[in-house]
Amino acid sequence: MHELTTVELTKKFQKKTAVQGVSFTLTNGVCGLLGENGAGKTTLMRMLCGLLAPDGGQVLCDGEQIARLGGGYRRLLGYLPQSFGYYPNYSALRFLRYMAALKALPKTYADARIEELLALTGLSDDRDRKLKTFSGGMLRRVGIAQALLNDPQILILDEPTAGLDPKERVRFRNLLSSLGRNRIILLSTHIVSDLESIADHILMMQKGCLTASGSIPEILSVGKGYVWECRVSEREAAELEQTHVIANLRSQGDGVCMRIISREPPATGAVPAEPALEDAWLYVLNNEQNEEGGD
Ligand SMILES: Nc1ncnc2c1ncn2[C@@H]1O[C@H](COP(=O)(O)OP(=O)(O)O)[C@@H](O)[C@H]1O
Ligand SMILES: [Mg+2]
Repeated sequence: MHELTTVELTKKFQKKTAVQGVSFTLTNGVCGLLGENGAGKTTLMRMLCGLLAPDGGQVLCDGEQIARLGGGYRRLLGYLPQSFGYYPNYSALRFLRYMAALKALPKTYADARIEELLALTGLSDDRDRKLKTFSGGMLRRVGIAQALLNDPQILILDEPTAGLDPKERVRFRNLLSSLGRNRIILLSTHIVSDLESIADHILMMQKGCLTASGSIPEILSVGKGYVWECRVSEREAAELEQTHVIANLRSQGDGVCMRIISREPPATGAVPAEPALEDAWLYVLNNEQNEEGGD
């Protein structure tokens, strides 16, 4: 089993700090990297893959700097970039053979592995179709298959669920949980529900910084005591929307049922609710913004 660690990892682009002093350790299992667009997820992942040199801090694999490990580290690694380039006129099979050759995998091993991966990603029947005829979800699956060619012990997937329809999401979730049992998987997303039933561990990233991390129960406990439900008039609802963080809202009869993130009870009759991952994320997001505003 391997251990992937970042220590005070930092990256600046000109004056813009994309990743700021990020430290964490990953072991086997699925870890979700959650952050809004521009939070620094892709930059962080590219540093983890050794594709981008940090301006500060280190990436360590089993205690050794990845730059020192070189090819030994790359052999452990599988990466699905956020937008991966492919040749539209290649068939799935030809593309995977091409990627296997780039990774310098022996031909007999590669051919057998490609068969396995086509089956694993549900693409066996589409192997001879040109990639330009594939749906977004199918292309993502081809991308995942290429990331798995070398049976990586560390799998880094940048927004792998983007463009997947609900059925494909379920399939992808099952694939990941079976893969995650004996390797490190880090996947990024800006969609909380993508992580709800996949991730063992969550890293929350905002404006380049890691603002929360932990197992799902640990992350949920962050929101404990700050989630409320209440039923109010439409007029009160409009006021609450101006002054509070609203997790959910739905009309019911002549009133509105609201789920609100707040340190104090937001309205008379508001009752505490059990936090869900979405609530914890909203709490962390807004908590940071409040502190920045210097309340
Ligand atoms: N090559 C680059 N040059 C300049 N700024 C960049 C570059 N790559 C990313 N950034 C900036 O760094 C920040 C983080 O970007 P990114 O890592 O792509 O975030 P995310 O993947 O979470 O959307 C953004 O503000 C982005 O504009
Ligand atoms: Mg990104």
